[in-house]
Amino acid sequence: MKGIVLAGGYGTRVHPITLGVSKQLLPVYDKPMIYYPLSVLMLAGITEIQIVSSPDDLAAFRRLLGDGSSLGIQLSYAEQDKPRGLADAFLVSADHIGDDSVALALGDNVFHGAGFAALLQEAARSIEGCVLFGHPVRDPERYGVGELDERGNLVAIEEKPTSPRTNLAITGLYFYDNDVVDIAGRLRPSERGELEITDVNRAYLERGDAKLISLGRGFAWLDTGTHDALMEAGQYVQVLQRRQGVRIACLEEIAWRMGYIDREACYRLGSRLSKSPYGRYIMAIAETG
Ligand code: G1P
Repeated sequence: MKGIVLAGGYGTRVHPITLGVSKQLLPVYDKPMIYYPLSVLMLAGITEIQIVSSPDDLAAFRRLLGDGSSLGIQLSYAEQDKPRGLADAFLVSADHIGDDSVALALGDNVFHGAGFAALLQEAARSIEGCVLFGHPVRDPERYGVGELDERGNLVAIEEKPTSPRTNLAITGLYFYDNDVVDIAGRLRPSERGELEITDVNRAYLERGDAKLISLGRGFAWLDTGTHDALMEAGQYVQVLQRRQGVRIACLEEIAWRMGYIDREACYRLGSRLSKSPYGRYIMAIAETG
């Protein structure tokens, strides 16, 4: 399975912060936002990942993450000359996807929860159709919203409905079989001129091929779309990390624990950042386990 992290968009809801820097490079406490979705794909066992962003911002992502080899993964970069909607990522990354299935992670989504890696790896094992991840929220009108029947099967999806029928938001993590490239290629732009991911998901739903995994109350799915949400996501990470002494979305640790790199390589990555607590954490876990 291939991975895509979509890190485009103008970030207009958090202006003026994003006038000079890509939203997905902003800090969520102690690390750049893009580490969070990237960590999700790595935890799913995906090692070939393409970052899609604007021509202006790609260089900064490349500077931050390189070709991925130090993390034992392969990172590539693709340019989206202007934001044309989330589903455009499948067209921009068609060569990267090739004949494979693909996971799309939106570059501004933060997930955290016990057992997440196992759940992701299980879902990624054999993809037929699409797998979506739902999470209850207080303000579903801001998201794609799913409706389930009494047996828990997904029966409807609406994009940002004014009167949502449920509180089940469709999160920014999507697993698809290879048909997604064709489906995205046949989409018509929505009223706002975008290729909507919800229309892709509806195409799968209509052919009876869309599955939804509900991430229950034990999971945190955090938004970074507003100034307050960005701050709160940082605070969530800060509180958990300080209380537990573990780090969320530490790519070097994940690369080691997933077996992409060995302990020595992990330690070396930490030592390059040894002036920061993040770097010292990596050195400590590589030393002690
Ligand atoms: C997008 C999708 C929406 C999804 C959300 C998750 O919305 O269109 O269906 O629920 O991401 O973050 P956007 O944030 O691009 O408005």
